[in-house]
Amino acid sequence: MTVLRMEDLDLKGHRLLIREDFNVPVADGIVTSDQRILAAIPTIELALEHAAALLLMSHMGRPAEGAFNPELSLAPVAHYLSKHLGRNVRLERDWLDGVKIQPGEIVLCENVRFNRGEKDNDKDLARRMASLCDIFVMDAFGTAHRAHASTVGVGHIAPVACAGPLLSRELDALGRALHDPQRPMLAIVGGSKVSTKLSVLESLLERTDQLIVGGGIANTFIAATGREVGQSLYQPDLVGDAQRLLRLAHERGSGIPVPVDVLVASAFSADATATVRRVEEVRADEWILDIGPQTCAEYAEIIRDAGTVLWNGPVGVFEFEHFAPGTRAVAQAIDQSTAFSIAGGGDTLAAIDQFGVGDGISYISTGGGAFLEFVEGKTLPAVAMLQRRAAEYPV
Ligand code: 3PG
Ligand code: MG
Repeated sequence: MTVLRMEDLDLKGHRLLIREDFNVPVADGIVTSDQRILAAIPTIELALEHAAALLLMSHMGRPAEGAFNPELSLAPVAHYLSKHLGRNVRLERDWLDGVKIQPGEIVLCENVRFNRGEKDNDKDLARRMASLCDIFVMDAFGTAHRAHASTVGVGHIAPVACAGPLLSRELDALGRALHDPQRPMLAIVGGSKVSTKLSVLESLLERTDQLIVGGGIANTFIAATGREVGQSLYQPDLVGDAQRLLRLAHERGSGIPVPVDVLVASAFSADATATVRRVEEVRADEWILDIGPQTCAEYAEIIRDAGTVLWNGPVGVFEFEHFAPGTRAVAQAIDQSTAFSIAGGGDTLAAIDQFGVGDGISYISTGGGAFLEFVEGKTLPAVAMLQRRAAEYPV
């Protein structure tokens, strides 16, 4: 099914409300990984070339609705954009009742998740957003799996709703890559919780030839093999599911490799010393914070033999220098492999930045959860909205 594309519309002088995903990591008020913002720059430039008035919307983090929270303000993003574009990008704190804007100007609307009703896709909220524009542009691929007021509701009500160039590019590239992948196909899924990725893991087990799990997810799998994980982050209630997935993978002849060695610490801290342990020797008072050197070598070999690699999520606490080697090894192995590689997810993008491996990755997606749901074969709610609107559009 088709969607309207921003590139095909007459934008001249119109008020564009563009939903981006500027949910980027920030430290001390500074954006520390800018890939998501950079990916949206062509969209902004295209709109400016047509002298449109630009209202940009995004969320940042997961604040409680109904209140301003300075820690999750988009101020660092406004600052970044102003500097990058060489023009003032005004941050508007209260924007729902209307924004004064001229063609050629850019306004960044403060964090959409400060508004009550955003996550429930409240109709009144969506209506207030829609009344700000002539054209709603959904460009936030990273948030296209959320049926919120700023991603879906507003699109149903706005006079016209179309896909922005970034969203179109992501859908085209990922669709092409997944349609007929080069085998063997490997997926690496890291992150903290099995619960948020259980259905993804299940579907990837069906679609891929090999699956590697990392981070807190791997800890739950380690526990599923009957081993001690000490103080490590894991989900005891999902050990049964992990066992089921291990059995399924075994029956399919692929297997989910559980780390043979790990890096442990006596505290969850950036200053903690990293000690290498065989996985069966982890103690009750220790935290598993990364994979060990032998596991790194094994994973690197699996990556080297793959024809296609999908990567989402770190395999260790790579933000702590002592526990970065595992994720660095994975990133470098993907970088050096000749496989068609696709990486996505906020932490994954930050790791790619940190280890400087972007050039060796075939396609970097700005989506995390959205990327995984797309890979799973689900229709993303924002895309479904765009398809419905395109069907109604008078040609
Ligand atoms: C992400 O970082 O995955 C997206 O920005 C979506 O954020 P969310 O998971 O808080 O909806
Ligand atoms: Mg997420």
